[in-house]
Amino acid sequence: MSSAAVMPSSVTVRVPAKVNLELLVGAPREDGYHPLATVYHAVSLYDEVTVVGADDWGVGVSGPQSLGVPVDESNLALRAARMLAEVGEVREPVHVSIRKDIPVMGGMAGGSADAAAALVACDRLWGLALPRTELEEIAAELGSDVPFLLSGGTSMGSGRGEVLAPVLARGSFHWVFALSETGLSTPAVYAECDRLRGETPVKHPSSSPQMMQALRSGDPRALGEALQNDLQAAAISLMPALGDVLDAGLEFGALGGVVSGSGPTVAFVVENNEAALDLAVSLTASGAVQDVRRATGPAHGAHEISGPRPG
Ligand code: C5P
Repeated sequence: MSSAAVMPSSVTVRVPAKVNLELLVGAPREDGYHPLATVYHAVSLYDEVTVVGADDWGVGVSGPQSLGVPVDESNLALRAARMLAEVGEVREPVHVSIRKDIPVMGGMAGGSADAAAALVACDRLWGLALPRTELEEIAAELGSDVPFLLSGGTSMGSGRGEVLAPVLARGSFHWVFALSETGLSTPAVYAECDRLRGETPVKHPSSSPQMMQALRSGDPRALGEALQNDLQAAAISLMPALGDVLDAGLEFGALGGVVSGSGPTVAFVVENNEAALDLAVSLTASGAVQDVRRATGPAHGAHEISGPRPG
């Protein structure tokens, strides 16, 4: 019996944000990228990306964090869709709609997440069913964080962040994120990190035993103590108020705090859901933070949430 697959007329994919539990940065390579030893952790703060067949390529953005997202050809989700079309020899344009709840230029890989989601959504819409390794290769071309957002969970990242390896992590963690009204440019933060280091020799980064142990134990207190980010000093140098946000979170009972990726979002790990609520309220009431989000991790990577709808 022949069973022609029913192609959906639209596909919606949900994709998480990430925080780097550990982000160790080496000296810049010849291509300008920095070698990393990082631990990625996906958290339950999501964007939703919907793709639908259209007469021409296009992108639209809505939702609480849509301000500042480009809606032209530079949009990373649109670029992802176009790149997949080229690889899959597809000649059917799509319109990409992004519902954003992940902060823009916030150090939580919002743009990379949308690109990962667009790859998964278009792969399904066009019935390509590409092997995961091939999707990961396209993802890596789009950005260093994009492959991780395909898989989610908790993973080690090396190379420029695109080489993933599993890590043994137990349990789930509760997070409070302090959002900033303005973003930071990732290249600017890396450049500031290089500037602050000056001529000081930098050793090749490798992940710390403390972090591995904290993840194996699933103990939020141990995780709080092990959080570290080599870009933190650079982010604070460019946005000094982040130092006050970190101090406030720790003073209000967080088990640990760290600038997320290249910032300016600050991530705090807490004991449980109740502690997350308490910290979120305290940070908001203190006036040190304009906006907070609570989340848990690890979260699943980009995954379809639309049921198949015959076209
Ligand atoms: O890979 P992605 O496009 O997300 O990187 C954005 C920018 O961040 C790069 O152009 C580079 O300036 C900086 N970067 C870096 N080293 C990395 C990852 C990113 O210097 N490992």
